[in-house]
Amino acid sequence: MILLESIIFGVITYLMTAARCEVTEVFAEVNSQAVLPCKCRNDPCHPADIIWNKHNQGTVWRKQSSGLQYVGSSWLQKDGPRVQCQHSHFQSGDYSLQINSVKAEDAGLYSCRIRLGTHAFQNHDVMLRIIKVSTSPPAPLSGDDVLINCSVTPWPTNALVQWKLNNNSFVSQNGVGMVVKEKATEGMTGKWTCVISYNSNVWHASTTLSVNGIIQPAKDDTKMYAAVGSTLTLPCVFSPGLFPLGIVWTKLNKSNHNLDSRHPPSSTWIKSIKINVVLFEDQGKYRCTGTVKGQTLARTMQLVVAKVVQSKKENSVMLTCQLSDASEVTEYEWIRVTVDINGTETFGPVLKGQTVVLKENSGDWTCRYYGKNGILGNVTYQVPLMSGQSGQKSSHVSSNVGTVIGLSFLLAILLLILAQMYKNHRRRQRILQYPALETIVHTISNEREERERNRVKK
Ligand SMILES: *[C@@H]1O[C@H](CO)[C@@H](O)[C@H](O)[C@H]1NC(C)=O
Ligand SMILES: *[C@@H]1O[C@H](CO)[C@@H](O)[C@H](O)[C@H]1NC(C)=O
Repeated sequence: MILLESIIFGVITYLMTAARCEVTEVFAEVNSQAVLPCKCRNDPCHPADIIWNKHNQGTVWRKQSSGLQYVGSSWLQKDGPRVQCQHSHFQSGDYSLQINSVKAEDAGLYSCRIRLGTHAFQNHDVMLRIIKVSTSPPAPLSGDDVLINCSVTPWPTNALVQWKLNNNSFVSQNGVGMVVKEKATEGMTGKWTCVISYNSNVWHASTTLSVNGIIQPAKDDTKMYAAVGSTLTLPCVFSPGLFPLGIVWTKLNKSNHNLDSRHPPSSTWIKSIKINVVLFEDQGKYRCTGTVKGQTLARTMQLVVAKVVQSKKENSVMLTCQLSDASEVTEYEWIRVTVDINGTETFGPVLKGQTVVLKENSGDWTCRYYGKNGILGNVTYQVPLMSGQSGQKSSHVSSNVGTVIGLSFLLAILLLILAQMYKNHRRRQRILQYPALETIVHTISNEREERERNRVKK
């Protein structure tokens, strides 16, 4: 689908050194309206007989002094003539010829002849050049050879051609010329403008090229940012209308393993996949591959995973915003997010830097990371309640109860032990009061044992 801009080009006149021979140059883009100027030098210029002729092709338009008008048969169409002169301008002696939706065949030399009375003649020559920018094929597939052609009929000698893509200068690898011949890439999608410089004048003509392929991500190695625990869609969107086959998603690591398609593609040309819960290990390079009309198209992308690492210090907590690839990050920012009972979020305070030390703030902290073109993403972390802090309630009440029970139990055991020790102590003291008695008891028992042994021997 080629979109040709309808631009009516200005009329530029240049005088040759010989005043008698005057040719006006008019450039018109294919399908636009061309205006071929013809202005009577007499004032008043009435009644005049006007004839517009095309070189070697006869009359285009004619008006007799009586007012009768004719249009050349080749300029007539079903819906009326393709050429006309504005009646309203006749009074001022302006007999400029309008040609609607010009074609390449309209190019050539025209002459406007004005006859006043029987003797006075005026001749105005106009050179109409038609510019056309075309692409072949009109909608190439990424990787196809594509030709972008700028043609001017008739070609003005010594004219210079330059190219612009989306208003930026485009330098073809094959040099700058009337034809750009390239391998199509998705980056070549956009407005192609041919700029023609000729006799210190500049003309433009444009066309739109759309290269079919993987339109999202638009470039290889596009970085995608996601926070640990979040849900992410890895995009792989083909041009609408394509029917890519054999879609394969690969994680490009040492083993290059293919991902199973857990989620069926949402349409014939959208082949994105979803990661329900992003893990830090999911970071890395991915590739989406598909085949269109026998041609393999692929796109690589990088998943960058962000997480918050907490390290404890005395009476404070240190948070670090960690990304698996921070090469594009220029700035970090921390925001405390508080949500009240009504669900209203309050932001603030804001701290700067990749690492922050929090003294008294628990709750949700979000790290926002920025690149040179703005925010890249964010990751939220819930800072646990810290000990030795005012305002510890619910969770600490239960733990206190536990502590009390534990301590009481210990105390009871201790008391029991103490009681036992005291008992033992008392007993020993009692015995010590009568040391002789102990010896006697001991001797008696020893004697009895000996007697019993002797009896067994007998
Ligand atoms: C919550 O909403 C109620 C009623 O809508 C309002 O009266 C109250 O002030 C709100 N509380 C907060 C903390 O915004
Ligand atoms: C984090 O990013 C999400 C998604 O872009 C956004 O909805 C949210 O408001 C962001 N949070 C903060 C604190 O910037």
